[in-house]
Amino acid sequence: ERADLKATLLEVNKLAAKYFYAQLKSESGKTAHEYLTDRQLSEETITAFGLGYSNKYSNDLHKYLRAKGYSDEIIVKAGLANMDEKNGIYDKFWNRVMFPIMDVNNRVIGFGGRVMGDGKPKYLNSPETPVFDKSRNLYGLNRARTSRKSYFLICEGYMDVISLHQAGFTNAVASLGTSLTAGHAALLKRYVGEVYLTYDSDEAGTKAALRAVPILKDAGVNARVIRMDPYKDPDEFIKNLGAAAFEERIGKARNGFMFSLEMLECSYDMTSPEGKTEFLREAARRLTGFEEEIERNNYIEAVAKAYHVGYEELHKLVVKTAVQSG
Ligand code: CTP
Ligand code: MN
Ligand code: MN
Ligand code: MN
Ligand code: MN
Repeated sequence: ERADLKATLLEVNKLAAKYFYAQLKSESGKTAHEYLTDRQLSEETITAFGLGYSNKYSNDLHKYLRAKGYSDEIIVKAGLANMDEKNGIYDKFWNRVMFPIMDVNNRVIGFGGRVMGDGKPKYLNSPETPVFDKSRNLYGLNRARTSRKSYFLICEGYMDVISLHQAGFTNAVASLGTSLTAGHAALLKRYVGEVYLTYDSDEAGTKAALRAVPILKDAGVNARVIRMDPYKDPDEFIKNLGAAAFEERIGKARNGFMFSLEMLECSYDMTSPEGKTEFLREAARRLTGFEEEIERNNYIEAVAKAYHVGYEELHKLVVKTAVQSG
């Protein structure tokens, strides 16, 4: 029963993706197609990611799927239409550029739809369904899994992943606006031992990176952080500075722990002896989190060097802190 339902939802999603794709390439999809080419996506990229367009007239997809023999109930369950007493059934996605979301096996599990221009919400996404679990899937993983790199780039959005792939960084994936979960980390661990977080340079992106570092570490994935400033996100960075500059940023990535200390600096007055001492106490407390002695000592060394304190003194403080916290 349940397996049947899942198979049916995947069929419906696949048909919908094909439908959106055909719309994008048709006359009615001209504006949407232009939107994507204005954002510098090539025809090859559009095809590779199966991008599409959902029509202005809000019942096309629903009618098409009914004609293919699927029930209203299934179409609603797939998250492709909504139903209410007043309006009956109507398509969820309307006049948006469509991004099919694939699982690792290239099955279409959901969609994101972007408004062209400044409307709200900017992105409308499929709800969670029996085949779409947001906390266990990563956008672009179906393609990134065959990249030859030993690490993944993790960014925020659809356009970041697509721009990065187009620029040759085929190891990019996105957690799609939701914060990175333990489920994502476990999924990543199956493919790589290291990731580079390349989130947006705004406060939300910085916070998301800080939260992701320990989640990844718990799953056995080492995290490094790449900053995109002065640009907003990888998509804009690549557009303005190009692939070589992005490669350079990869080379300059900081490890997750040192990045989190750098962010912590803002909470202390680093110019006063009291402030810096308080900061170092907190750093020592965090250093006690490294259970393996060699790893811990390597980090003590890195922190001592970065903040101009003696290795021995910092080491003593860490040991003392560890003893005190039992
Ligand atoms: N997102 C979403 N709903 C929104 C805004 C964002 O689901 N209303 C998700 C999308 O997956 C989006 C990601 O969060 O790709 C990152 O959001 P944001 O940085 O705001 O968008 P961008 O990906 O930069 O989108 P664009 O470049 O198209 O403006
Ligand atoms: Mn963002
Ligand atoms: Mn962004
Ligand atoms: Mn963007
Ligand atoms: Mn500094």
